[in-house]
Amino acid sequence: MKTPVAIVGAGPAGLLLSHLLHLEGIDSVVIESRSRAEIEATLRAGVLEQGTVDLLAQSGVGERMKREGMVHEGIVLRFAGASHRIALTELTGRAITVYAQHEVIKDLVKARLDAGGAILFEVKDAALYDLDSPSPKIRFHHERQVKEIAADFVAGCDGFHGVSRPSIPSRHRHEFTRTYPFGWFGILVEAPASTAELIYAHHERGFALVSTRSPQIQRLYFQCDPQDELKNWPDARIWEELHARLAGADGWKLAEGRIFQRGIIAMRSFVVEPMRYGRLFLAGDAAHIVPPTGAKGLNLAVHDVRVLAAGFRDYFNTRSEQGLKGYSTTALKRVWRAEHFSWWMTSMLHRFHDDTPFQHRLQLAELDYVVSSKAKALTLAESYVG
Ligand code: DHB
Repeated sequence: MKTPVAIVGAGPAGLLLSHLLHLEGIDSVVIESRSRAEIEATLRAGVLEQGTVDLLAQSGVGERMKREGMVHEGIVLRFAGASHRIALTELTGRAITVYAQHEVIKDLVKARLDAGGAILFEVKDAALYDLDSPSPKIRFHHERQVKEIAADFVAGCDGFHGVSRPSIPSRHRHEFTRTYPFGWFGILVEAPASTAELIYAHHERGFALVSTRSPQIQRLYFQCDPQDELKNWPDARIWEELHARLAGADGWKLAEGRIFQRGIIAMRSFVVEPMRYGRLFLAGDAAHIVPPTGAKGLNLAVHDVRVLAAGFRDYFNTRSEQGLKGYSTTALKRVWRAEHFSWWMTSMLHRFHDDTPFQHRLQLAELDYVVSSKAKALTLAESYVG
């Protein structure tokens, strides 16, 4: 096979890149190790920045998102037993939309397949070759055959554990990592919403987050040991922990319901520089990871791809390499801003096992500053909405 752009990974980055290239008249082939059913069912975060929403809508894949997504104009910080609203829209003029990542995936897969786009699912043993030559290649197993794609460029959109990043010789990679001594226990619950806006709660027992997926389905998280196991958490213990962390003098109470999905998420910050090697460009989680606090992961992937698609457009229309040459520097500026924001939100809201009482008082002082100073609230709000 030959294609201008070979894309490794059918996550948000790879699918959106393929879609945006198609709108510019540029062909691509997407390869994906999982099945369509699997990628369309994998649960991830659900908060879309205004810029993400606008790009999806402008590029013609936002119809269902506009119909089913829930626009939120504020979030709540809850600590010391009281709630405080951060008025995102009043402060910034922008809002966020709650619409699950796997719904975005479904919309993008459908758009690509309806347009005759090539997505090869259940590809095995993919290997990237000749990345520093004018004709990079990918070889893999698909439908019991060995196949090869020769491309002008390869986009590595295959996530943190994908093959793309390790295909860059280690002497050309600078990696920055921070792992956090906790994870998130996440559940999906059949229950009505207990709150009109997302609640980020700081508590002595640890962080908790009340989010939503629809008027009937709620998404809840609480900080846990990253090594913990699902079997240690019968339903009653989960509710006890959530109620304890969300309790307050105002008497607000979370509505319980049937828990029908549960999982533990590790938390890490990671960046590789640069995001390019030869004719391989990394985008999304293949190049960077943020801890989930603040929900920046998908939005960063979308930003990468917006910049990368513009670079490819200029290259294929005018042979100008300016955009592609600037890709890594431009993308990394946004990446590091989001890395800082996600680290800050994580540090301010979670309990660290080795925290002294002094450090805990500092966290509370910072939270108090955020909810009482317009300048500090705006700092949070403009990063949160993107
Ligand atoms: C969700 C996830 C996040 O990381 C966050 O900050 C807010 C909401 C969610 O899955 O709904």
